[in-house]
Amino acid sequence: MTATRNVEDIRMNGHQPGNAELLELERQYCSWGDTVHYLEPPKFFERAEGNYLYDGEGIEYLDLQMWYSAASFGYGNERLNDALKRQVDRLPQLASQYLHTEKVLLAAAIAKLNESKFGLKGRVHFNVGGSQAIEDSLKLVRNETGKSVVFSFMGGYHGRTLGASAITSSYRYRRRFGHLSDRAHFVPFTYCFRCPYAKKRASCEPYCVDQFAKNFET
Ligand SMILES: Cc1ncc(COP(=O)(O)O)c(C=O)c1O
Repeated sequence: MTATRNVEDIRMNGHQPGNAELLELERQYCSWGDTVHYLEPPKFFERAEGNYLYDGEGIEYLDLQMWYSAASFGYGNERLNDALKRQVDRLPQLASQYLHTEKVLLAAAIAKLNESKFGLKGRVHFNVGGSQAIEDSLKLVRNETGKSVVFSFMGGYHGRTLGASAITSSYRYRRRFGHLSDRAHFVPFTYCFRCPYAKKRASCEPYCVDQFAKNFET
């Protein structure tokens, strides 16, 4: 309901644009970044529930990606949505110079859980997404070691910010932004099911680990 109402709000003079008109508006006004549409023409979805997305005709689509895992607990999850609404109404996230109870309690819960699983004490650094997490880990490594070149897996994706795209394997992401900075040395991913060296796990010893270790000799 809410999603539908929000769309209604931005419709002008009661005019309801069809998909063709929306696609033309998208072509003119939406940033494409460096993304590509998966379908031609791209598909519009109207709403989501549980594991399913629905298009304008009410046809349901099982979302096997669940918004790249951002919605792993299901779309329209009542408990999560209610908590989000309560918090947004009362006090949303604040600039990190200021404190609020939920931030501290959540950090403590995550840190204690990690400590119970891995035996390591730590702090929680809140961030907005994957690329920023990668950027911060690059900063941490650089700060701690003074080294700026990292190993990165071939086939890996780390995001579209400048640092993250520089260590992302696909040339498409690095070509214009990250390639020249020479931040990553790409190594094959150790995947026994489809071995990059065409070896068999029973006899490889594992060959990929030996190959990786050779990097440190040079
Ligand atoms: C493995 C991995 N790392 C990093 C990212 C980038 O995350 P974000 O889009 O939140 O910046 C993604 C996003 O799909 C990812 O799958």
